[in-house]
Amino acid sequence: MEKSEIDSYKKAGAIAKQIKTFTKDLIKPKMKLLDIAEAIDSKILELGGEFAFPVNLSMNEIAAHYTPASGDETLAEGILKVDVGVAIDGFIADTALSIDLTENKEFKEMIELNQKLLENISKIIKVGMEVQNVGESCQKTLEEWDKEKFSIIKSLSGHSLAQNTIHAGLTISNYKNTNKKVLDEIAFAIEPFVTTGVGDIYEGEPGGIYILKNDGQTRDRDARKVLEFVREEYGTRPFCARWLAKEGFDKLKFVLKILVKQGILYEYPMLIEKSRKPVSQFENTFVLANGEVVCTTG
Ligand code: CO
Repeated sequence: MEKSEIDSYKKAGAIAKQIKTFTKDLIKPKMKLLDIAEAIDSKILELGGEFAFPVNLSMNEIAAHYTPASGDETLAEGILKVDVGVAIDGFIADTALSIDLTENKEFKEMIELNQKLLENISKIIKVGMEVQNVGESCQKTLEEWDKEKFSIIKSLSGHSLAQNTIHAGLTISNYKNTNKKVLDEIAFAIEPFVTTGVGDIYEGEPGGIYILKNDGQTRDRDARKVLEFVREEYGTRPFCARWLAKEGFDKLKFVLKILVKQGILYEYPMLIEKSRKPVSQFENTFVLANGEVVCTTG
């Protein structure tokens, strides 16, 4: 890996780390998700970062892929996952934390287990390790905890990262597997999700996060303008209506709907726990290069 690439990963990670601290101070129960998202957006830009993807603010049984748009009145409650992506020159730091917003801290143990899972994985990450070591570590941590009470969501995994690419092809499972692929000269995110439910997910309603799907054209004039901007500005990165509204685009609900319907854009469905039980998540980004391990976001 080029030195400049490693430096960019580190810079993005340093900003993402600051965003996590900022987020923990910022979020209070009953805050609007929209206000949280806008504050995080502004802070990323203020710190000199680029958006790698819209901040995911997923509550309770929603595991991932929700971001608020203008007019969203949803209030923060229960357990809130904040999954944030910062890039420098396209090199991504992907990191997440969970915040317990209940008065009697009912998610305390789930959060502790989830942090322990990520901490124990972090300890075994080294150049030359195999992908399956991550799953092994998860299994061991869960068995030492309380297997009856919690499960790890099997269908949500860590993933390799590349320039402007959040899922660069490699899946890093959080359960026992036999993937012997050796990790070196690679950047990746590790993200175990814990739940008191069955530990599986289904795809729900769209959650406000979009990505370009193909280079198709549209005849609608407003949609064409948005599409041009999206291609130029976001390329292969996911985006959201909030950012487009800031650029002065309007009729976004209508325009984005057309583009999704025409198959030019894809809108990610929310990922929801199958038994509709609460979910927690913690995530860090690691870079393995030149014989060294760097956790950029931890
Ligand atoms: Co991730």
